Amino acid sequence: MLYSKKVMEHFSKPQNVGLIEDADGRGIVGNPVCGDTMEITIKVKDDKIEDIKFRTFGCASAIATSSMTTVMAKGKTLVEGLAMTRDDVANELQGLPSHKMHCSNLAVDALHKAIEDYQKKKNEK
Ligand code: FES
Repeated sequence: MLYSKKVMEHFSKPQNVGLIEDADGRGIVGNPVCGDTMEITIKVKDDKIEDIKFRTFGCASAIATSSMTTVMAKGKTLVEGLAMTRDDVANELQGLPSHKMHCSNLAVDALHKAIEDYQKKKNEK
């Protein structure tokens, strides 16, 4: 299997790994294809993603896409974050093997869930 240089970079040195303890939003998803899981926590300020971290029990592609997703999402508005797709992330990683594209759903789905969680909590206040 051939991974791009970018995938290898983000897999061997993933960025924004961890958990934001006092997160404003949290999203957890499981991958129905392989059973792996992903958690993303965010801090929001002025409708922008000020900080973001991820934890995953996933494969190399899941780790690389999560790392890239957090790098891309940081500083974006919530609307821009919700508009991000797995293809955006895969393109930024210079592509993923086609049978690994399902792995890239995890991070983007968890990001969307974290944003929705924040919006739900905000509306409840
Ligand atoms: Fe499970 Fe990639 S094989 S996320």
